[in-house]
Parts: sequence; C-alpha cells; structure tokens
Amino acid sequence: MGIPVQGEHGAEPLWRPDGPDLLLHGDNLVALRALPEASMQLVYLDPPFNTGRTQQRRTTRSVRDPEGTHLGFTGTSYSRTVEALSSYDDSFGDYWAFLAPRLVEAHRLLRDDGTLYLHLDWREAHYAKVALDALFGRECFLNELIWAYDYGAKSRRRWPTKHDTILVYVKNPATYWFDSESVDREPYMAPGLVTPEKAARGKLPTDVWWHTIVPTSGGEKTGYPTQKPLGVLRRIVQASSREGDWVLDAFAGSGTTAAAARALGRRSISIDESPDAVRIVSARLDLPITVVPRPSTAG
Ligand SMILES: C[S@@+](CC[C@H](N)C(=O)[O-])C[C@H]1O[C@@H](n2cnc3c(N)ncnc32)[C@H](O)[C@@H]1O
Repeated sequence: MGIPVQGEHGAEPLWRPDGPDLLLHGDNLVALRALPEASMQLVYLDPPFNTGRTQQRRTTRSVRDPEGTHLGFTGTSYSRTVEALSSYDDSFGDYWAFLAPRLVEAHRLLRDDGTLYLHLDWREAHYAKVALDALFGRECFLNELIWAYDYGAKSRRRWPTKHDTILVYVKNPATYWFDSESVDREPYMAPGLVTPEKAARGKLPTDVWWHTIVPTSGGEKTGYPTQKPLGVLRRIVQASSREGDWVLDAFAGSGTTAAAARALGRRSISIDESPDAVRIVSARLDLPITVVPRPSTAG
C-alpha cells in the first residue's frame, strides 16, 4: 500500500489509517494514486478555476485508459462524456484533461459512506455536473450548494456574479453519512415569525450559503490569495464526517479544510504543489512537509 516518500516518513507508506495528519508537497495526481481505495470519508476539491486560457495538457490519455484510471463500471460513460464535452469547448477540454483523472481518483478514495465536495465557479459548474453524473451515477448527486458573497467590483452590463458553486456527490446513496444536527446554525431572516426558542436556536442552513469572504484583516487571513472562509469548510466537515474520520483536500492552498478538520477533531491530508501554499499550511497547523516524489521516481 502506498509509495515510499522522502523526508519525515523515510521509506514508510505515504499514509496509515492510524498515522498523523499529512501535508504533502507535490502533484496531487501522484499523491492521490498512492493512497489506498476507500480510505477517505470526505474529499474536498477546490481546483484553480478555468480562466479560459489554454492550460498545460497533462494527462488526456489517462482519461481514456481504463487500466490506468480504475474507472470501474461507470468508466466508459464517464470517459465518453468528458471527451464529448472536451470536443465542444477547447478551454474546457484542456481544463478537464487536467481535472478528470483527479476526480476519478477522488471517487476511488471515498469510503462507501463518503462524500465529495467539488468547489467551482459558475463557468464550470454545469460541465462538472454532467461529468460527475457520469462518474458517480446520477443517483449519487446530493446537492448543488451556492456560496453567495457580496464583495468587490460589480458589473453594470449583467447581473454581478457573486457566487461559487459546490457540487456534492456521495459514493453510495444508500449508506452515505450526513449529520445535519451537528452543523452550525444560522439566524432566521425573519426571527419575528418564529418562536423565541426557535429564533435563539437558529435555523439549519439550506443549499444557499450566505457567507462573507475571508476578511482582509483579522486572525483568519493567511495571505494566500484564494483562501476560502473557515465557516464554509466547517459546515462541510461537520455534516459529512465524524470525529476521527479522514478528510482529504487535494488542492489545499492555505489549508482551510485541514484547519476546520483539526478544530472539529477529524484527521486530514492536505496536498498542494505550491511551495508558498505548503509553507503557509505548515505554519498554520504546525505540520511537517512531506515531499511527494515526481512521477518518474514513483511506484
Ligand atoms: C483555489 S486554490 C485552493 C484554495 C484553498 N481551498 C484555500 O482555502 O486556501 C487551488 C490550489 O491548487 C493548487 N494546485 C493546482 N494544481 C495542483 C496540482 N496538480 N497538485 C497539487 N496542487 C495543485 C494550487 O497551488 C492552489 O494552491
């Protein structure tokens, strides 16, 4: 199980169920492939957005290679879907050639009761929905979360776009874990319309989450440009994992997921290829950095 890695863990496997929280520096596809099947309760992915510019085409072949990507019975329809969408839009094709094999790995790593959260902007969400329906199966689609914020410049030529979309898929719709009771509640919009007890307790969040971006001053800010608010990740971790469960973030950035996991008594794996990101996560969570070997030296 697992590839040996340099650094802290010497020739040990990359991950052990009873091991410490991990911070991995390197390409997440290499790291994800080194982790064992059905080992993670929660996978959160916040990939860089598709800017519309041509991205580096890295792994198109693996999308089409059932041997290489462990696609399982949904693999054929998934590969066909991704290829069909790719031929429709060039920038999408390049972006998804990058993202698709990572989604396949996320699906493989989820436990039977586990959940994937894929955080995207409005330009990609509809493509992602089609591709994930084909990978997981439509019956595994749980929610489309809208994270709405109100910050920054506003266009006068269209409705200002002030939301991100988080697609939620479960590995198994019959056995997935979801605990709405342990989620932080929010104030009622019209507290006068409910009893004082209800107003004091607050209401369960819906699939639309109004939440400020990370404040530009204050303790939460790490300086990492794409940092997501802790409050958003807290909800995700609270609802879709239990204490002691493993939570994986393969595009860790500033380590928001791991910070939420730590605060809530979960264990975490954070992966990022940026030296700045892993330095920030290491300082934020007091974690050693483990270097993931380059593909040529792996496995
Ligand atoms: C949108 S940011 C994530 C922000 C994060 N959710 C947070 O709260 O700070 C995307 C991250 O993905 C990382 N990344 C992009 N491609 C990667 C790859 N192939 N392997 C590992 N990390 C990658 C980037 O370095 C960047 O830190």
